[in-house]
Amino acid sequence: MGQCSFTGRAGKKLVRPRLAAFAAEAFASPRFFMNTPIVPRVALVGCGSYGAEHAKFLATYAGVKLHAVADLAADRAEDFAKKYGATYATADPSRIWADRDIDAVWICTQHHTHAPLAEAAAAAGKDFFLEKPLALTLADCDRIVAAVERSGVTAASGFKLRFFPAVIAAKAFLTKPTLTTAHVIDDHWLSEFWANDPVQGGGNVLSQGCHIMDTVLYLHPTPPVRIYAAGGNRHHPTRDIVDVAAITLTFADGAVANIAVGDVGVPPHASKFALQQSDGARSLSLYNRLNSLMTREDKQVTEHPAWPEDGAAVIDRAFIAAVAEGKPSPVSVHSARRTTAVVLAAIESIKTGRVVDLAAAPYAAAMALPA
Ligand SMILES: NC(=O)c1ccc[n+]([C@@H]2O[C@H](COP(=O)([O-])OP(=O)(O)OC[C@H]3O[C@@H](n4cnc5c(N)ncnc54)[C@H](O)[C@@H]3O)[C@@H](O)[C@H]2O)c1
Repeated sequence: MGQCSFTGRAGKKLVRPRLAAFAAEAFASPRFFMNTPIVPRVALVGCGSYGAEHAKFLATYAGVKLHAVADLAADRAEDFAKKYGATYATADPSRIWADRDIDAVWICTQHHTHAPLAEAAAAAGKDFFLEKPLALTLADCDRIVAAVERSGVTAASGFKLRFFPAVIAAKAFLTKPTLTTAHVIDDHWLSEFWANDPVQGGGNVLSQGCHIMDTVLYLHPTPPVRIYAAGGNRHHPTRDIVDVAAITLTFADGAVANIAVGDVGVPPHASKFALQQSDGARSLSLYNRLNSLMTREDKQVTEHPAWPEDGAAVIDRAFIAAVAEGKPSPVSVHSARRTTAVVLAAIESIKTGRVVDLAAAPYAAAMALPA
């Protein structure tokens, strides 16, 4: 949408006929420009449980029009179209890519489909929001980054915890943490759940561990350089996955983090997501699913009022604003690749029993973020 100017960012060729027509009319008539707000038309691919969270927001947010929904299961797509007011439903995502009226697409499908769908969106010139983790393998993450770089589309990934107000306040309070402890510990996942399938999902350490890993990386100012992890498969004997992990991460500035992940039972006090940090003088605790913050300075503890959890809306709003204003992605695919790669390196460490050097191949390229 920011690309609706005639040249676009970085001089990329524009492939948004509806927006180009709008821009042409706007330039010809300043009155038209002043009186007609441009509302991106968007589509959603993957009408499942988290697709519903995004659809709920997209259906009611004045900043977009939910134009189309797609799912390989035609009945699910039809249900979504009725429930969330989309103009049409389809069981064929290629109809979405070919629809010149669609500006941006939300991709909310199983992890092994992320790379091909992201490549198709980018090739069609659609901005896209892709759920987390970026993909199941480093090679697929690289495919997504390459597709975005080639096309110049604006793309984001679903690491929503960065946008939680308590997390943002924590980052402002401790700019250079020395020590972090953090976890995402969920209740037991069914072994049959697709996210526990090694081909479709990769297991909970990848599926949910990426959320807390992303938060830890967001809160540390320098890149991770080294990782060691212990763990394995403790509760899903029929699945070839890692379901529990205790991860130790070292950052370039010498800071360290310990991260625990598993579907072994939510800790009743700290909650499913929690994180603590200190910098030698000050400290903080994030708890209540990272919606509450306590800070400590000069031995005085301040308990900040809890923020309400805002679900998928918190990141959807940020992505829509970036698309509409032509600003950089709020969660670039490069940073999503880095987060996903660090979790994949933790799983490698568990499987090999070795420390993984993140500053060496194959991880080094994924650790560097563009300025
Ligand atoms: N950010 C979060 O907090 C959060 C929470 C839950 C899930 N998620 C993520 O959302 C994504 C979807 O998870 P879910 O739980 O909604 O899964 P789901 O199984 O409920 O829904 C996925 C849907 O995608 C459809 N689909 C699969 N391949 C497709 C294709 N090629 N084209 C069109 N449709 C296709 C399936 O038929 C299904 O209806 C995953 O990446 C998951 O990790 C994110």
